[in-house]
Amino acid sequence: MDTITPQPRAAWIAGQAEQGASTLVVHHPFDGSEVATVAVPGADQVERAVAAAAAVAKEFRRTPAHQRAAALEHVSRGLAMRAEELAEVITAENGKPLKWAEAEVKRAVSVFRIAAEEARRFSGDMQRLDADPSGDARLALTRRVPRGPVLGIAPFNFPLNLVAHKVAPALAVGAPIIIKPAPRTPLSSLVLGELLAETDLPEGAFSVLPLGNEETQALVADPRLPVVSFTGSGPVGWSIADAAARKHVVLELGGNAAAVVLRDWPDVEGAAQRIATFGNYQAGQSCIAVQRVIVDAAIADEFVPALTEAVEAQQTGDPYDRNTDVGPVVDEAAAERIVAWVEEAVAGGARLLTGGTRSGATVAPTLLTDVPADAKAWSEEIFGPVLAVSIVDGVDEAFASVNASAYGLQAGVFTSDVQLAFHASAELEVGGVIIGDVPSYRADQMPYGGVKGSGVGREGVLSAMHDLTEERVTVFTGVDL
Ligand code: SIN
Repeated sequence: MDTITPQPRAAWIAGQAEQGASTLVVHHPFDGSEVATVAVPGADQVERAVAAAAAVAKEFRRTPAHQRAAALEHVSRGLAMRAEELAEVITAENGKPLKWAEAEVKRAVSVFRIAAEEARRFSGDMQRLDADPSGDARLALTRRVPRGPVLGIAPFNFPLNLVAHKVAPALAVGAPIIIKPAPRTPLSSLVLGELLAETDLPEGAFSVLPLGNEETQALVADPRLPVVSFTGSGPVGWSIADAAARKHVVLELGGNAAAVVLRDWPDVEGAAQRIATFGNYQAGQSCIAVQRVIVDAAIADEFVPALTEAVEAQQTGDPYDRNTDVGPVVDEAAAERIVAWVEEAVAGGARLLTGGTRSGATVAPTLLTDVPADAKAWSEEIFGPVLAVSIVDGVDEAFASVNASAYGLQAGVFTSDVQLAFHASAELEVGGVIIGDVPSYRADQMPYGGVKGSGVGREGVLSAMHDLTEERVTVFTGVDL
């Protein structure tokens, strides 16, 4: 793969490729090697991007749905055609194993395809108002209108698909979008910019600005960008919400997702395999990677050894090697922090069943048990390949343990009892409950987002289209109902 180009990778300013005022270097997390240099736009270029987004907003929301859908379909097809190249770019900048990078590209293909479908369908509602005498012969038409240009701030852990989740719904509703990719992983979004530039989207409909996190503050404050959609860490997300108090802010933040294994689940070993895989996929760097494993005492003697074996079977190594399951985390500082959290748990009385070490930025798949409730490896988001097991007595204790968290993104419940499944769905304080599987399951068309410290608002193509628009009511009088 040739990511090193003679010139820095261009930024996208109002749909045009431009060199910047400075550059940033992207490193491969596995060995620190230089992957590419990227143009960082200067203040005047940022200003042009914002001004163009604001200027085109009215025109863009009136573009015919078929035109927006065609642009989204073009991007979907382009991603599919360039899938191999894109997977390599993702692995280069993010360090996730190639097989997970390939899965990410496939998902992004779907996100743009689904957005094209939804763009064609997205309409309004009619409501007769004559339920009361004051509404005789009156009819309300409610349609959804973009709130305005969107600032999308994306994280490093899915450098293509979490950008897709911001760009595709915005374009589907006709809202211009400025994407600020994570400084460590801007490359995939710049390739996405190439595909967007091949469409006939109006000038200003999209920009991709690989800015540093500090330069982004001015964009967060800019009144011409009334919507801020952020995915990333809690502290940054909540500080954005504070700084943009008058804006519509969508926050997709972290979590310490729990998988609950109840005594009725028939395939204990299968549950252990899924949990080992999805505690370690992308080296645990997904907001819905399994972190807390809550298992019923009745099956713990069978489950814990099966889980230990499955975690030990996870292969670490070079992310380009097809046998590698667990690559590096984003950088060595992150690996150091993860190991320090494991050590803190052990110092507090936890038992280390396997792992707990690192080599460079690669953390050995780690399994802990008896972790004190206030240890960070249990109570915070570890964002690393670390699982913490807690043995509980029955359903009530299990669900109370899931809810005893500052976060609430998704939970997985291994049960085949339909009543318990409904009970889980009613009881668990999360944005999504996955029955019979890990919390890490996400279909890109379903609503996705959290409660409590995990954020506000929902993504998932149609949910995001609702979130990026507001209702506008028109009342017709003298209507022949
Ligand atoms: C996230 O880390 O929040 C995204 C997870 C996913 O899209 O699978």
